[in-house]
Amino acid sequence: MPPIQGARRKAVVTVWPEVEDALEAIISEYEKVNHVISLYQDDKVRRLGLRLVSGSRGVGLELGSGPGNFSRLVAATHKGPLVCLDYSDRMLRTGRARNSTLGFSYVRAVFEALPFRGGVFSLVTASYALRDTLDKPRAIGEACTVAAPGGRLLLIDIGKPDNPVFQGFMGLYMRFIVPVMGGLVAGYGYRNPWSMLYSTYELLPSNDALRGLISRLWGKVEMREFILGAIIVALGAKPGLCMSPGQVSDP
Ligand SMILES: C[S@@+](CC[C@H](N)C(=O)[O-])C[C@H]1O[C@@H](n2cnc3c(N)ncnc32)[C@H](O)[C@@H]1O
Repeated sequence: MPPIQGARRKAVVTVWPEVEDALEAIISEYEKVNHVISLYQDDKVRRLGLRLVSGSRGVGLELGSGPGNFSRLVAATHKGPLVCLDYSDRMLRTGRARNSTLGFSYVRAVFEALPFRGGVFSLVTASYALRDTLDKPRAIGEACTVAAPGGRLLLIDIGKPDNPVFQGFMGLYMRFIVPVMGGLVAGYGYRNPWSMLYSTYELLPSNDALRGLISRLWGKVEMREFILGAIIVALGAKPGLCMSPGQVSDP
């Protein structure tokens, strides 16, 4: 699939085509395999993150809505319309078909150049999606720009533990064990799309560096770690103005 370009920006913004291809190749097995490779913690942490923003109302934005699994959970706790945004047309179509009765809106766009007016969303959330961006400061900065003053940020994602021993173990797990588990559960060989997860993991900043990045762009941030830092939930609230991503370097 050719890269999409952000029309609003001078710089060319692209998604990561290999990761997109890998994700699109596994849509039907996506959730089953993710439950197994996360040791059945993925949904637990999604629900926990949503409890932390319970009572949110207004217009919500989900970045990287994929096949719509998290969108359904958001709709169960968030009071108000939900906009599901994804780069992948196939993912959007899958989510739309699955959640056809829930009244979500769908937008095909990239995290790094969000096609919305500033200050409109009361909740901006992304579940296991933001790590896929090649430009985290820009994506997190864009999320801040489109959030309303006082709007909440809820990020749920794979983490990179700060402790070097846990980080080393997590690296081995992502590199060697996840592709084997993914291959076995979905009936693929060893060279399967789950081996791409390691590439996205490699580019992740450590949990502490990610916390620092979000707080430089959004202001205050609270981060909770699960399974020794292997999964994180980050919560932010937009204070007023956001820092421009150009003022913040990639950690
Ligand atoms: C791993 S799925 C997550 C799906 C769902 N949110 C969940 O909780 O399982 C990540 C989604 O983010 C989308 N994505 C990745 N990078 C993107 C980018 N730079 N801009 C827009 N969408 C992107 C992918 O197409 C994919 O559907």
